[in-house]
Amino acid sequence: MHESLHHPKGTFDLLPRAMSDSSWRAAPLWRAVETSLCATAHSWGFEEIRTPIFESTSLFQRGVGDSSDIVSKEMYTFADRAGRSLTLRPEGTLGVVRAIIEKGGQPGSPQYRSINRLFYLGPMFRYERPQAGRYRQFHQFGAEIIGLSSWQSDVEVLDLAITSCKRLGVHKIQLELNSLGDAADRARFRSALTEYLQPHQKALSEDSQRRLERNPLRILDTKDPQDREILSQAPALSTYLSSASRERFAHILEWLELAQIPYVISPHLVRGLDYYCHTVFELTSPSLGAQNSLVAGGRYDELFAMLGQPARSAMGFGLGLERTIQALPDESALKITAGCEVYIIAIGSEVPAPLFLLGRQLRQMDFRVILHTEGGKVARALQLANAENARWVLLAGEEELARSGVQCRDMQARTEAFYSLETIGNHLAKERSQ
Ligand code: HAM
Repeated sequence: MHESLHHPKGTFDLLPRAMSDSSWRAAPLWRAVETSLCATAHSWGFEEIRTPIFESTSLFQRGVGDSSDIVSKEMYTFADRAGRSLTLRPEGTLGVVRAIIEKGGQPGSPQYRSINRLFYLGPMFRYERPQAGRYRQFHQFGAEIIGLSSWQSDVEVLDLAITSCKRLGVHKIQLELNSLGDAADRARFRSALTEYLQPHQKALSEDSQRRLERNPLRILDTKDPQDREILSQAPALSTYLSSASRERFAHILEWLELAQIPYVISPHLVRGLDYYCHTVFELTSPSLGAQNSLVAGGRYDELFAMLGQPARSAMGFGLGLERTIQALPDESALKITAGCEVYIIAIGSEVPAPLFLLGRQLRQMDFRVILHTEGGKVARALQLANAENARWVLLAGEEELARSGVQCRDMQARTEAFYSLETIGNHLAKERSQ
Protein backbone atom coordinates (compact mmCIF):
# COMPACT_ATOMS: atom_id res chain seq x y z
CA MET A 1 0.00 0.00 0.00
CA HIS A 2 1.24 3.48 -0.81
CA GLU A 3 2.86 5.27 2.14
CA SER A 4 0.23 8.03 1.99
CA LEU A 5 -2.40 5.43 2.90
CA HIS A 6 -0.68 4.46 6.18
CA HIS A 7 -1.40 6.22 9.46
CA PRO A 8 1.63 8.25 10.61
CA LYS A 9 4.03 6.43 12.95
CA GLY A 10 3.01 6.71 16.60
CA THR A 11 -0.66 7.45 15.81
CA PHE A 12 -3.75 5.24 15.56
CA ASP A 13 -7.37 5.31 14.48
CA LEU A 14 -10.26 4.98 16.86
CA LEU A 15 -12.76 2.84 15.02
CA PRO A 16 -16.31 1.56 15.37
CA ARG A 17 -16.25 -1.73 17.25
CA ALA A 18 -16.71 -3.97 14.23
CA MET A 19 -13.70 -2.45 12.43
CA SER A 20 -11.45 -2.21 15.45
CA ASP A 21 -8.43 -4.53 15.43
CA SER A 22 -7.91 -4.15 19.16
CA SER A 23 -10.56 -3.70 21.82
CA TRP A 24 -8.98 -0.63 23.47
CA ARG A 25 -9.08 1.29 20.19
CA ALA A 26 -12.88 1.09 19.85
CA ALA A 27 -14.38 4.58 19.57
CA PRO A 28 -17.55 3.82 21.62
CA LEU A 29 -15.34 2.80 24.54
CA TRP A 30 -13.43 6.09 24.31
CA ARG A 31 -16.68 8.06 24.21
CA ALA A 32 -17.89 6.27 27.36
CA VAL A 33 -14.57 6.88 29.14
CA GLU A 34 -14.58 10.56 28.19
CA THR A 35 -18.19 10.95 29.38
CA SER A 36 -17.33 9.40 32.74
CA LEU A 37 -14.22 11.58 33.19
CA CYS A 38 -16.16 14.77 32.39
CA ALA A 39 -18.94 13.76 34.81
CA THR A 40 -16.39 13.14 37.59
CA ALA A 41 -14.76 16.53 37.00
CA HIS A 42 -18.21 18.16 37.05
CA SER A 43 -18.94 16.58 40.40
CA TRP A 44 -15.82 18.36 41.79
CA GLY A 45 -17.17 21.68 40.42
CA PHE A 46 -14.73 21.83 37.48
CA GLU A 47 -15.72 23.48 34.18
CA GLU A 48 -14.51 22.57 30.72
CA ILE A 49 -11.98 24.63 28.79
CA ARG A 50 -10.86 24.02 25.18
CA THR A 51 -7.71 25.65 23.95
CA PRO A 52 -6.02 25.47 20.51
CA ILE A 53 -4.09 22.38 19.43
CA PHE A 54 -1.14 24.62 18.55
CA GLU A 55 0.35 27.51 20.46
CA SER A 56 3.29 29.80 20.03
CA THR A 57 6.52 27.76 20.45
CA SER A 58 7.91 30.17 23.03
CA LEU A 59 5.02 29.37 25.41
CA PHE A 60 6.35 25.82 25.87
CA GLN A 61 10.00 26.90 25.84
CA ARG A 62 9.35 29.31 28.70
CA GLY A 63 6.88 27.17 30.62
CA VAL A 64 7.95 23.54 30.21
CA GLY A 65 11.61 24.55 30.19
CA ASP A 66 14.34 24.55 27.53
CA SER A 67 16.29 21.78 29.23
CA SER A 68 13.34 19.37 29.44
CA ASP A 69 13.20 16.38 27.07
CA ILE A 70 9.88 17.65 25.77
CA VAL A 71 11.24 21.00 24.58
CA SER A 72 14.72 19.86 23.61
CA LYS A 73 13.75 16.87 21.48
CA GLU A 74 10.05 16.03 21.35
CA MET A 75 8.13 19.00 20.01
CA TYR A 76 6.36 19.17 16.67
CA THR A 77 7.42 22.70 15.75
CA PHE A 78 6.77 24.39 12.43
CA ALA A 79 6.75 27.83 10.87
CA ASP A 80 3.41 28.96 9.46
CA ARG A 81 3.18 30.82 6.16
CA ALA A 82 3.79 34.12 7.91
CA GLY A 83 6.96 32.75 9.52
CA ARG A 84 5.60 32.42 13.10
CA SER A 85 7.02 29.52 15.08
CA LEU A 86 4.16 27.33 16.29
CA THR A 87 4.13 24.02 18.17
CA LEU A 88 1.53 21.26 18.39
CA ARG A 89 0.81 21.20 22.11
CA PRO A 90 2.92 18.55 23.89
CA GLU A 91 0.79 18.94 27.04
CA GLY A 92 -2.32 20.80 28.20
CA THR A 93 -1.35 22.90 31.21
CA LEU A 94 0.37 25.71 29.33
CA GLY A 95 -2.55 26.35 26.95
CA VAL A 96 -4.88 26.61 29.95
CA VAL A 97 -2.53 28.97 31.78
CA ARG A 98 -2.10 31.08 28.63
CA ALA A 99 -5.90 31.32 28.25
CA ILE A 100 -6.32 32.39 31.89
CA ILE A 101 -3.63 35.05 31.50
CA GLU A 102 -5.07 36.28 28.20
CA LYS A 103 -8.81 36.02 28.85
CA GLY A 104 -9.15 35.78 32.60
CA GLY A 105 -8.91 39.54 33.18
CA GLN A 106 -7.22 41.47 35.95
CA PRO A 107 -8.42 41.55 39.58
CA GLY A 108 -11.46 43.87 39.63
CA SER A 109 -12.51 43.20 36.00
CA PRO A 110 -15.85 41.42 35.40
CA GLN A 111 -14.37 38.24 33.91
CA TYR A 112 -11.75 37.83 36.64
CA ARG A 113 -12.14 34.89 38.98
CA SER A 114 -9.59 34.43 41.69
CA ILE A 115 -10.12 30.65 41.57
CA ASN A 116 -10.54 28.61 38.38
CA ARG A 117 -11.33 24.92 38.39
CA LEU A 118 -10.92 23.72 34.82
CA PHE A 119 -10.75 20.44 32.93
CA TYR A 120 -9.87 19.60 29.34
CA LEU A 121 -9.71 16.66 27.03
CA GLY A 122 -7.88 16.26 23.76
CA PRO A 123 -4.88 15.21 21.71
CA MET A 124 -1.28 16.08 22.62
CA PHE A 125 1.80 15.56 20.45
CA ARG A 126 5.31 14.44 21.31
CA TYR A 127 7.98 13.14 18.97
CA GLU A 128 8.88 10.14 21.14
CA ARG A 129 10.01 6.65 20.18
CA PRO A 130 6.69 4.80 19.86
CA GLN A 131 6.20 1.68 21.96
CA ALA A 132 3.36 0.09 23.93
CA GLY A 133 1.75 2.93 25.92
CA ARG A 134 3.81 5.63 24.16
CA TYR A 135 2.50 7.42 21.10
CA ARG A 136 3.27 10.54 19.11
CA GLN A 137 -0.34 11.65 19.17
CA PHE A 138 -1.85 10.71 22.51
CA HIS A 139 -4.79 12.01 24.50
CA GLN A 140 -5.04 13.55 27.92
CA PHE A 141 -7.85 14.38 30.27
CA GLY A 142 -6.47 17.11 32.49
CA ALA A 143 -7.70 19.09 35.47
CA GLU A 144 -6.22 22.26 36.91
CA ILE A 145 -7.08 24.40 39.93
CA ILE A 146 -5.64 27.86 39.49
CA GLY A 147 -5.69 30.33 42.37
CA LEU A 148 -5.51 28.08 45.43
CA SER A 149 -2.37 27.51 47.45
CA SER A 150 -3.65 25.47 50.40
CA TRP A 151 -2.41 21.94 51.00
CA GLN A 152 -6.09 20.93 51.23
CA SER A 153 -6.49 21.81 47.55
CA ASP A 154 -3.62 19.40 46.75
CA VAL A 155 -5.59 16.62 48.42
CA GLU A 156 -8.72 17.58 46.47
CA VAL A 157 -6.80 17.29 43.20
CA LEU A 158 -5.21 13.98 44.23
CA ASP A 159 -8.63 12.65 45.18
CA LEU A 160 -10.13 13.79 41.86
CA ALA A 161 -7.36 12.00 39.94
CA ILE A 162 -7.85 8.78 41.90
CA THR A 163 -11.64 8.89 41.74
CA SER A 164 -11.50 9.55 37.97
CA CYS A 165 -9.67 6.23 37.55
CA LYS A 166 -11.84 4.32 40.02
CA ARG A 167 -15.14 5.43 38.50
CA LEU A 168 -13.88 4.04 35.20
CA GLY A 169 -13.26 0.70 36.89
CA VAL A 170 -9.45 1.06 37.16
CA HIS A 171 -9.00 0.10 40.81
CA LYS A 172 -5.48 -1.29 40.80
CA ILE A 173 -3.51 1.91 40.94
CA GLN A 174 -0.70 3.09 43.12
CA LEU A 175 -0.30 6.69 44.23
CA GLU A 176 3.36 7.71 44.30
CA LEU A 177 4.18 11.16 45.56
CA ASN A 178 6.99 13.42 46.63
CA SER A 179 7.56 17.00 47.69
CA LEU A 180 9.94 19.21 45.73
CA GLY A 181 9.61 22.03 48.25
CA ASP A 182 9.77 25.65 47.15
CA ALA A 183 12.36 27.36 44.94
CA ALA A 184 14.73 28.06 47.85
CA ASP A 185 14.55 24.42 49.06
CA ARG A 186 15.35 23.17 45.58
CA ALA A 187 18.22 25.63 45.10
CA ARG A 188 19.86 24.36 48.31
CA PHE A 189 19.33 20.76 47.30
CA ARG A 190 20.52 21.37 43.72
CA SER A 191 23.91 22.63 44.91
CA ALA A 192 24.29 19.74 47.38
CA LEU A 193 23.40 17.20 44.68
CA THR A 194 25.73 18.78 42.11
CA GLU A 195 28.54 18.82 44.64
CA TYR A 196 27.97 15.13 45.38
CA LEU A 197 27.70 14.10 41.70
CA GLN A 198 30.60 16.12 40.33
CA PRO A 199 33.31 13.60 41.36
CA HIS A 200 31.20 10.81 39.76
CA GLN A 201 30.60 12.75 36.56
CA LYS A 202 32.53 10.43 34.23
CA ALA A 203 30.76 7.34 35.56
CA LEU A 204 27.29 8.77 34.88
CA SER A 205 25.30 7.92 31.76
CA GLU A 206 25.48 10.37 28.87
CA ASP A 207 21.99 11.66 29.61
CA SER A 208 22.78 12.27 33.26
CA GLN A 209 26.07 14.00 32.40
CA ARG A 210 24.12 16.42 30.24
CA ARG A 211 21.55 16.91 32.98
CA LEU A 212 24.23 17.56 35.57
CA GLU A 213 24.94 20.81 33.78
CA ARG A 214 21.45 21.85 32.81
CA ASN A 215 18.97 20.30 35.25
CA PRO A 216 20.61 18.10 37.94
CA LEU A 217 17.31 17.26 39.69
CA ARG A 218 16.18 15.30 36.65
CA ILE A 219 19.07 12.86 37.26
CA LEU A 220 17.06 11.53 40.20
CA ASP A 221 14.55 9.78 37.95
CA THR A 222 17.17 8.07 35.76
CA LYS A 223 16.57 4.42 34.93
CA ASP A 224 20.26 3.68 34.28
CA PRO A 225 21.47 1.05 36.83
CA GLN A 226 24.91 2.58 37.32
CA ASP A 227 23.42 6.06 37.82
CA ARG A 228 21.06 4.55 40.37
CA GLU A 229 23.96 2.95 42.21
CA ILE A 230 25.72 6.31 42.41
CA LEU A 231 22.51 8.00 43.53
CA SER A 232 21.98 5.54 46.38
CA GLN A 233 24.48 7.53 48.47
CA ALA A 234 23.33 10.96 47.27
CA PRO A 235 21.83 13.55 49.61
CA ALA A 236 18.03 13.25 49.93
CA LEU A 237 15.77 16.04 48.75
CA SER A 238 13.52 15.59 51.78
CA THR A 239 16.29 16.66 54.17
CA TYR A 240 16.65 19.97 52.30
CA LEU A 241 13.00 20.98 52.70
CA SER A 242 12.27 23.92 55.00
CA SER A 243 10.15 23.14 58.03
CA ALA A 244 7.17 24.90 56.38
CA SER A 245 7.49 22.72 53.24
CA ARG A 246 7.88 19.60 55.34
CA GLU A 247 4.82 20.46 57.41
CA ARG A 248 2.79 21.13 54.27
CA PHE A 249 3.64 17.69 52.92
CA ALA A 250 2.92 16.02 56.26
CA HIS A 251 -0.59 17.56 56.30
CA ILE A 252 -1.29 16.12 52.86
CA LEU A 253 -0.20 12.65 53.95
CA GLU A 254 -2.42 12.94 57.04
CA TRP A 255 -5.51 13.63 54.95
CA LEU A 256 -4.67 10.86 52.52
CA GLU A 257 -4.62 8.53 55.50
CA LEU A 258 -7.88 10.01 56.76
CA ALA A 259 -9.49 9.28 53.37
CA GLN A 260 -7.90 5.80 53.41
CA ILE A 261 -6.02 6.50 50.20
CA PRO A 262 -2.89 4.35 50.18
CA TYR A 263 0.30 6.03 48.95
CA VAL A 264 4.00 5.47 48.53
CA ILE A 265 6.55 8.25 48.93
CA SER A 266 8.95 8.21 45.98
CA PRO A 267 12.00 10.30 46.89
CA HIS A 268 13.21 10.16 43.28
CA LEU A 269 9.99 11.40 41.71
CA VAL A 270 10.89 14.80 40.24
CA ARG A 271 8.86 14.91 36.96
CA GLY A 272 10.12 15.97 33.56
CA LEU A 273 8.59 19.43 33.34
CA ASP A 274 10.28 22.43 34.94
CA TYR A 275 7.22 24.08 36.40
CA TYR A 276 6.64 21.92 39.48
CA CYS A 277 7.10 22.72 43.17
CA HIS A 278 5.91 21.10 46.44
CA THR A 279 3.61 18.13 45.69
CA VAL A 280 4.36 16.01 42.62
CA PHE A 281 2.63 12.69 41.99
CA GLU A 282 1.93 9.83 39.65
CA LEU A 283 -0.71 7.12 39.56
CA THR A 284 0.81 3.95 38.20
CA SER A 285 -0.76 0.69 37.16
CA PRO A 286 0.86 -2.70 37.78
CA SER A 287 -1.00 -4.14 34.79
CA LEU A 288 0.97 -2.06 32.28
CA GLY A 289 4.57 -2.51 31.17
CA ALA A 290 7.36 0.10 31.14
CA GLN A 291 4.95 2.97 30.43
CA ASN A 292 2.94 2.46 33.59
CA SER A 293 2.15 6.06 34.56
CA LEU A 294 -1.56 6.64 33.97
CA VAL A 295 -1.77 10.03 35.62
CA ALA A 296 0.87 12.57 36.52
CA GLY A 297 0.78 16.03 37.94
CA GLY A 298 1.63 18.37 40.74
CA ARG A 299 1.72 21.90 42.04
CA TYR A 300 3.09 24.68 39.85
CA ASP A 301 3.03 27.89 41.90
CA GLU A 302 6.03 29.28 39.99
CA LEU A 303 4.73 28.90 36.43
CA PHE A 304 2.92 32.24 36.16
CA ALA A 305 6.11 34.03 37.26
CA MET A 306 8.13 31.98 34.72
CA LEU A 307 5.82 33.51 32.09
CA GLY A 308 6.45 37.03 33.41
CA GLN A 309 3.08 37.30 35.21
CA PRO A 310 2.08 38.06 38.80
CA ALA A 311 2.40 34.84 40.80
CA ARG A 312 -0.66 32.57 41.09
CA SER A 313 -0.77 29.23 42.86
CA ALA A 314 -1.93 26.22 40.86
CA MET A 315 -2.13 22.45 40.92
CA GLY A 316 -3.30 19.86 38.41
CA PHE A 317 -2.77 16.60 36.60
CA GLY A 318 -2.92 14.98 33.19
CA LEU A 319 -4.45 11.52 32.73
CA GLY A 320 -3.28 9.58 29.67
CA LEU A 321 -6.33 8.08 27.97
CA GLU A 322 -4.44 5.37 26.03
CA ARG A 323 -2.81 3.95 29.13
CA THR A 324 -5.91 4.30 31.30
CA ILE A 325 -8.11 2.56 28.74
CA GLN A 326 -5.55 -0.22 28.36
CA ALA A 327 -5.59 -0.67 32.14
CA LEU A 328 -9.39 -1.14 32.26
CA PRO A 329 -9.95 -4.65 33.61
CA ASP A 330 -13.37 -4.81 31.94
CA GLU A 331 -15.82 -2.32 30.61
CA SER A 332 -18.71 -3.07 32.92
CA ALA A 333 -18.48 0.21 34.84
CA LEU A 334 -19.08 2.14 31.63
CA LYS A 335 -22.19 2.92 29.66
CA ILE A 336 -21.12 2.10 26.13
CA THR A 337 -23.54 3.04 23.38
CA ALA A 338 -22.97 1.55 19.97
CA GLY A 339 -25.20 0.37 17.13
CA CYS A 340 -28.91 1.11 17.36
CA GLU A 341 -31.95 0.20 19.44
CA VAL A 342 -34.57 0.14 16.71
CA TYR A 343 -34.11 -1.06 13.12
CA ILE A 344 -36.99 -0.27 10.72
CA ILE A 345 -37.46 -2.43 7.62
CA ALA A 346 -39.93 -1.95 4.78
CA ILE A 347 -40.97 -5.32 3.34
CA GLY A 348 -40.81 -5.67 -0.43
CA SER A 349 -40.72 -2.02 -1.37
CA GLU A 350 -38.92 1.26 -1.08
CA VAL A 351 -39.35 2.94 2.29
CA PRO A 352 -42.87 4.41 2.43
CA ALA A 353 -43.44 7.81 4.07
CA PRO A 354 -45.17 6.47 7.24
CA LEU A 355 -42.00 4.49 8.19
CA PHE A 356 -39.80 7.54 7.56
CA LEU A 357 -42.09 9.54 9.88
CA LEU A 358 -42.09 6.74 12.46
CA GLY A 359 -38.26 6.83 12.51
CA ARG A 360 -38.33 10.59 13.11
CA GLN A 361 -40.88 10.21 15.91
CA LEU A 362 -38.82 7.52 17.69
CA ARG A 363 -35.62 9.56 17.43
CA GLN A 364 -37.46 12.47 19.03
CA MET A 365 -38.28 10.09 21.88
CA ASP A 366 -34.50 9.56 22.21
CA PHE A 367 -34.31 6.12 20.61
CA ARG A 368 -31.30 5.30 18.44
CA VAL A 369 -32.94 4.32 15.17
CA ILE A 370 -31.68 3.05 11.82
CA LEU A 371 -34.08 3.25 8.90
CA HIS A 372 -33.22 0.57 6.35
CA THR A 373 -33.36 2.56 3.12
CA GLU A 374 -31.75 0.05 0.75
CA GLY A 375 -34.68 -2.28 -0.01
CA GLY A 376 -33.59 -5.83 -0.93
CA LYS A 377 -34.40 -9.07 0.82
CA VAL A 378 -35.81 -9.01 4.38
CA ALA A 379 -33.35 -11.73 5.46
CA ARG A 380 -30.42 -9.51 4.48
CA ALA A 381 -31.97 -6.50 6.29
CA LEU A 382 -32.39 -8.67 9.41
CA GLN A 383 -28.71 -9.63 9.25
CA LEU A 384 -27.79 -5.95 9.20
CA ALA A 385 -30.14 -5.29 12.15
CA ASN A 386 -28.32 -8.01 14.07
CA ALA A 387 -24.93 -6.56 13.19
CA GLU A 388 -26.13 -3.23 14.61
CA ASN A 389 -27.22 -4.97 17.83
CA ALA A 390 -30.81 -3.79 17.37
CA ARG A 391 -33.02 -4.60 20.33
CA TRP A 392 -36.22 -4.22 18.23
CA VAL A 393 -36.88 -4.66 14.53
CA LEU A 394 -39.99 -2.98 13.14
CA LEU A 395 -41.22 -4.57 9.87
CA ALA A 396 -43.99 -3.29 7.65
CA GLY A 397 -45.23 -4.32 4.19
CA GLU A 398 -48.36 -3.38 2.32
CA GLU A 399 -50.53 -5.43 4.65
CA GLU A 400 -49.24 -3.82 7.89
CA LEU A 401 -49.37 -0.33 6.41
CA ALA A 402 -52.92 -0.87 5.21
CA ARG A 403 -53.71 -1.44 8.91
CA SER A 404 -51.54 1.60 9.88
CA GLY A 405 -49.16 -0.47 11.93
CA VAL A 406 -45.92 -2.47 12.14
CA GLN A 407 -44.79 -5.92 13.24
CA CYS A 408 -42.49 -5.43 16.23
CA ARG A 409 -39.87 -8.13 16.74
CA ASP A 410 -38.17 -8.10 20.14
CA MET A 411 -34.73 -9.56 19.35
CA GLN A 412 -33.92 -10.22 23.03
CA ALA A 413 -37.20 -11.85 24.08
CA ARG A 414 -37.63 -13.44 20.62
CA THR A 415 -41.29 -12.40 20.46
CA GLU A 416 -43.25 -10.64 17.76
CA ALA A 417 -46.53 -8.67 17.83
CA PHE A 418 -48.47 -6.11 15.81
CA TYR A 419 -48.69 -2.48 17.05
CA SER A 420 -50.38 0.53 15.48
CA LEU A 421 -48.16 3.42 14.36
CA GLU A 422 -49.79 5.47 17.12
CA THR A 423 -48.97 3.08 19.97
CA ILE A 424 -45.60 1.61 18.99
CA GLY A 425 -43.57 4.52 20.43
CA ASN A 426 -45.17 4.23 23.86
CA HIS A 427 -44.83 0.45 23.79
CA LEU A 428 -41.06 0.66 23.11
CA ALA A 429 -40.61 3.39 25.74
CA LYS A 430 -42.35 1.18 28.31
CA GLU A 431 -40.24 -1.84 27.40
CA ARG A 432 -37.05 0.20 27.54
CA SER A 433 -37.79 1.53 31.02
CA GLN A 434 -38.24 -1.98 32.43
P1 HAM B 1 3.07 14.27 31.79
O1 HAM B 1 3.64 13.43 32.86
O2 HAM B 1 4.02 14.71 30.73
O3 HAM B 1 2.41 15.55 32.48
O4 HAM B 1 1.86 13.51 31.11
C1 HAM B 1 0.75 13.08 31.87
C2 HAM B 1 0.26 11.73 31.39
O5 HAM B 1 0.09 11.75 29.96
C3 HAM B 1 1.24 10.58 31.62
O6 HAM B 1 1.11 10.06 32.92
C4 HAM B 1 0.77 9.56 30.56
O7 HAM B 1 -0.36 8.84 31.02
C5 HAM B 1 0.35 10.46 29.42
N1 HAM B 1 1.42 10.54 28.39
C6 HAM B 1 2.47 11.37 28.35
N2 HAM B 1 3.20 11.16 27.23
C7 HAM B 1 2.59 10.16 26.56
C8 HAM B 1 2.86 9.49 25.32
N3 HAM B 1 3.88 9.82 24.53
N4 HAM B 1 2.00 8.50 24.93
C9 HAM B 1 0.94 8.17 25.71
N5 HAM B 1 0.64 8.78 26.87
C10 HAM B 1 1.46 9.76 27.29
C11 HAM B 1 1.81 16.57 31.81
O8 HAM B 1 1.56 16.54 30.62
C12 HAM B 1 1.38 17.71 32.71
N6 HAM B 1 0.74 18.76 31.87
C13 HAM B 1 0.42 17.21 33.78
C14 HAM B 1 -0.05 18.31 34.67
C15 HAM B 1 -1.21 18.98 34.60
N7 HAM B 1 0.64 18.83 35.67
C16 HAM B 1 -0.06 19.79 36.24
N8 HAM B 1 -1.19 19.90 35.58
